[in-house]
Amino acid sequence: MTQNAGIIGMGHAYPSGILSNADLEKLVETSDEWITTRTGIKQRHKAAENEYTSQFGTKAAQQALERAGLKPEDIDLIVCATTTPDQIMPSTGALIQAQLGAVNAAGMDIFAACSGFLYGITMVESMIRTGQIRYALVIGAEVLTKYVDYTDRSTCVIFGDGAGAAVLGPVPEGKGILATKIKSDGRYEEQLYAPGGGTKLGTTHETIDNREHFFKMKGNELFKVAVRSMSDISAEMLAKAGYTVEDVDLVIPHQANQRITDAVASRLGAPEEKVYSNIAFHGNTSSASIPIAMDECLEAGKIKEGDLVLLTAFGGGVTWGATVIRF
Ligand code: UT7
Repeated sequence: MTQNAGIIGMGHAYPSGILSNADLEKLVETSDEWITTRTGIKQRHKAAENEYTSQFGTKAAQQALERAGLKPEDIDLIVCATTTPDQIMPSTGALIQAQLGAVNAAGMDIFAACSGFLYGITMVESMIRTGQIRYALVIGAEVLTKYVDYTDRSTCVIFGDGAGAAVLGPVPEGKGILATKIKSDGRYEEQLYAPGGGTKLGTTHETIDNREHFFKMKGNELFKVAVRSMSDISAEMLAKAGYTVEDVDLVIPHQANQRITDAVASRLGAPEEKVYSNIAFHGNTSSASIPIAMDECLEAGKIKEGDLVLLTAFGGGVTWGATVIRF
């Protein structure tokens, strides 16, 4: 006998600071028209200098716990998916554990870029299913604007900050996570990476002068791989769960680019009204994008009890994944 695992509470948080397309027009050679038509983004949230990743992760987690009717001490595991940790060590998951007072939990990070939340869900689902743990927090939290090069117009217009959190726990048979899969292909390393600051190049005057501590992206090459990977793995997970796209009530893709979302929807055969998008308001918040979007849908009543929801993500690594959930 195994135990079904599902999401029993969610929360999200983001900085109050906003960076609009008009603000970016003053920083780099770009235009509201280019950003809107090529990405769908109108604004993104930007942390202040004294704000950092774990603060947003903690805020989102507190809301998720409250909605799940649990206390911090009920949590066995905190998985924080982030590519923009507070610091190299300790993990942001451990820092969030301390901020929450989750004294009975283990805290850890998952480093899978924009697919990190689905990596966390996939790992935690099997731990709950096999009885290893009972309750876990999976958090996607990012302050990407501190890793973005504001002289590089191909990346700085895209990324924004925020966090989303989900409490996972036991749910009745037929509900919860029905199928989930994660994948990566490290051969595409240089399509989205930050080469500086690690053991390979270190942090030197040269790496900083070459701006190697910032994200670099070959967006155009990633675009096609993103569309193909997300639609293929989504179709595979729907089939594994025994459903087709017609059975799905809502598709929540990683918010990378409105054109990517539209192309994935079209390849899957999902009508526009069943595909959620908030990219205009948040930009691309990497691992935080799916849990923020899910929580917005729950708050707005767009996800109801019994709904079948498909999540799919793609990110640097490259990494990708899909999850089918019955609420
Ligand atoms: O989060 C998961 C991982 N990330 C992704 O999946 C991102 C996937 N890629 C994308 O979203 C898109 O490729 C971008 C939004 C990054 C770029 O859009 P694109 O339509 O692929 O543009 P492009 O890179 O092919 O560039 C087209 C032109 C170039 O000018 P030329 O060479 O045609 O003269 C760029 O220099 O647009 C120029 N350009 C810009 N122009 C104004 C690039 N960035 C900008 C900008 N403003 N911000």
